Amino acid sequence: MTEENKIREDHSYRDFPVEIIGLKDLTSDTRYFKVRCLNEDMKNKFNYKPGQFVIFSIPGVGEATFSISSPPTRRDFVEFGMRKVGTFTEAFFKLKEGDVFNMRGPYGNGFEMESLKGRDIIIVAGGLGAVPLRSVLLYAEDRREEFNQVFFLNGARSPDDMLFREDFMAMAARGIVDTRLSVDKDPTGEWPYDVGFVTTLIPQLAEKIKAENTTALICGPPGMYRFVIQELLKLNVPKDQILMTLERRMKCGQGHCGHCVVGGRYTCLDGPIFTYYDVQHEKELI
Ligand SMILES: Cc1cc2nc3c(=O)[nH]c(=O)nc-3n(C[C@H](O)[C@H](O)[C@H](O)COP(=O)(O)OP(=O)(O)OC[C@H]3O[C@@H](n4cnc5c(N)ncnc54)[C@H](O)[C@@H]3O)c2cc1C
Ligand code: FES
Repeated sequence: MTEENKIREDHSYRDFPVEIIGLKDLTSDTRYFKVRCLNEDMKNKFNYKPGQFVIFSIPGVGEATFSISSPPTRRDFVEFGMRKVGTFTEAFFKLKEGDVFNMRGPYGNGFEMESLKGRDIIIVAGGLGAVPLRSVLLYAEDRREEFNQVFFLNGARSPDDMLFREDFMAMAARGIVDTRLSVDKDPTGEWPYDVGFVTTLIPQLAEKIKAENTTALICGPPGMYRFVIQELLKLNVPKDQILMTLERRMKCGQGHCGHCVVGGRYTCLDGPIFTYYDVQHEKELI
């Protein structure tokens, strides 16, 4: 049994309590949460990869799936970004700092960061997609020496809709990762970066990357994928090096309930990360 499976045996089917140690509104409907494991043993066992997700549960309310937004390189806490959309998330938004709830996981395949060593990386996020990709981004910042060039392209509808806006602007200023931010519309006229869809940032990299040594990681609203992929293919990024997070409604997160099956694939087990090469003919997936 691999070490990873041993950890999974130990805890991934069981809820464990976590305490909210920080929260902040990111936009009018999306909130950042920072939690810590109450059990020291659990804290040590909770190893995850960027791109993996967990299930939150509140007794009497239900359960829902959320991507981990912090990198495994930062061990004392786990961070999330949650959009208020319905019953569970409305109940969760009532929780305050110091409140305790149950979590289990991690689930899903996640990004194999080891396989990206020495490569050029293009991270393309749209809207809520910045939540899971922030885990990759901060990992790449923390271990910058492991990768060749790292680009972060992030798009939002407007400056007010950009999640982690101040953090990303600070990141652009630090320059450890080449960070390019765009908004579809700038009603104030004061946005200091690009205006236009996130896809317009991709051609800017044409002269910078070596396509055969490049991996792109994408997460965003469903309508974004097709256009981002078109631009990446124009740069000759190989189809099997375009990695996409495809989130579908899930329940168990462990291949039992069948809720997440699309085109014969369990998005909770085989995904949520797929290569474009693998799913290019699956109309239901992209
Ligand atoms: C792998 C994975 C990772 C996720 N990560 C995050 C995250 O980091 N942050 C975050 O805010 N949300 C994330 N989600 C979505 C989150 O799980 C749902 O928003 C949540 O379950 C909604 O619960 P609810 O009871 O509040 O809404 P409901 O009352 O169940 O639904 C309200 C509305 O939202 C729609 N909806 C609900 N769930 C989904 C979904 N999974 N996909 C698309 N539409 C949905 C419904 O169709 C309905 O219109 C993720 C989902 C998956 C599968
Ligand atoms: S969420 Fe139950 S099988 Fe995937």
